[in-house]
Amino acid sequence: MTFEKNILCIGAGYVGGPTMAMIAYKCPQYRVTVVDTNPERITAWNSDTLPIFEPGLDEIVKKVRGRNLFFSTQIERGIQEAGIIFVSVNTPIKTFGAGAGMAADLQYWEKTALQIREASQSDKIIVEKSTLPVKTALAMERILTATANGVHFDILSNPEFMAEGTGIRDLETPDRVLIGSRETSAGIKARDELLEIYANWVPRERIITSNIWSSELSKLVSNAFLAQRISSINAISSLCEKTEADVTEVARAVGMDSRLGDKFLNASIGFGGSCFKKDLLNLVYLCRQYGLEEVADYWEGVIRINDYQKERFILNMLDTMFNTLAGKKICLFGFAFKANTGDTRESPAIYVSRRLVEERSELVITDPRALINAQTDLADIKEKIDFIEDPYEAAAGCDAIAVMTEWDMYAELDFEKIYENMRKPAFIFDGRNILDHRNLFDTGFNVFPVGKPSLTHF
Ligand SMILES: NC(=O)c1ccc[n+]([C@@H]2O[C@H](COP(=O)([O-])OP(=O)(O)OC[C@H]3O[C@@H](n4cnc5c(N)ncnc54)[C@H](O)[C@@H]3O)[C@@H](O)[C@H]2O)c1
Repeated sequence: MTFEKNILCIGAGYVGGPTMAMIAYKCPQYRVTVVDTNPERITAWNSDTLPIFEPGLDEIVKKVRGRNLFFSTQIERGIQEAGIIFVSVNTPIKTFGAGAGMAADLQYWEKTALQIREASQSDKIIVEKSTLPVKTALAMERILTATANGVHFDILSNPEFMAEGTGIRDLETPDRVLIGSRETSAGIKARDELLEIYANWVPRERIITSNIWSSELSKLVSNAFLAQRISSINAISSLCEKTEADVTEVARAVGMDSRLGDKFLNASIGFGGSCFKKDLLNLVYLCRQYGLEEVADYWEGVIRINDYQKERFILNMLDTMFNTLAGKKICLFGFAFKANTGDTRESPAIYVSRRLVEERSELVITDPRALINAQTDLADIKEKIDFIEDPYEAAAGCDAIAVMTEWDMYAELDFEKIYENMRKPAFIFDGRNILDHRNLFDTGFNVFPVGKPSLTHF
């Protein structure tokens, strides 16, 4: 069969895999190949156990894999055959040298650009799918055009806005698809070619275009605003705890203002995930580079509140459990950074676990999807922790439960049964406010939600 387009994606991660699966699913007329340097990842994509958990992903991959979706480690060949190349490699925070701890580490990105340049024998459209600092496309252009082999490259920015856990729904019915291009005739032609791909299933009015720098910056700003909403409500949760106000009631009243809206107003243990902190740090770094110190300080405050919220959670536990956690057995309900994913990158549970071990607690961790990642994240202190998938078994003999992830299943557990098997007094710290606090209190628990009055028997 001949395909209308040959699409390649470099980077078979949380973004590359699902986005390409969706394109292949919606566009049987295109051949889509996803390549990665990591052979185990590619083997997993080609197996029955995909390397990432995302509701609905298995079904789509099963339908299209081998039909018009292929996973491979043959990067050079993939580049040669493709007319359009998405780059979806990781862009973590730099851990060394200038900008360490703040700037994006663009080594994977640059390596990819060089690989594309070396292998290309025909003109190509290069699509930035990774989240990148504004002006990265300029660097990409410079790298790609640094040889005079006659091959022409057009660079587009097409940031991905999907959220893990709802990734498939987000990809199928996105709020918007953003395509940034150079405003030259070649840039606009390339933009229209990418637009044509999305137009196979995304309504035209939801596909927006902009200049390339606005597009790159929009992704950073979008994540910064989302994270800012979480830090805003979390900051207020600490005030609620001091004043006997209830943060859920405050959020409801605030969110009914149509100018504000009710999304992203749930107080919690704090945000995690691979993107929010990284993208905020990137934004802060960019602002500082341009001498915008006040702006940088403003956005840095969002991260500071998030760190404060996690530490506050530990200090609350200490305070309520009689100022010592040493020898106390504490069970974390959930380790993933949010529900419906196995991803644990930057999960607040990592911080909480480390702090609890530091306080010499005995730690038990349960999660329906994230225990393997949890063991990797905590490899250096793994011997001090029990990892148990069954929440009833995990909580047995514990002094306290701390809810880290808003898995639906936790709200449906039989807490009377759990209470019976715990040490007394039994504590629950609901870091996600998902449990029925009144019911737990009536069962005998001392209950400590986030941003609400506690319910205690002493
Ligand atoms: N995870 C999310 O929800 C999300 C959402 C939107 C945007 N993003 C952005 O998308 C990008 C990718 O994120 P992710 O979560 O998919 O990362 P990831 O770490 O899951 O995947 C990146 C993949 O790229 C591969 N890779 C790195 N260098 C390579 C190279 N030179 N050639 C081939 N493969 C290479 C890695 O082996 C890895 O499998 C990041 O910039 C991130 O900020 C992520």
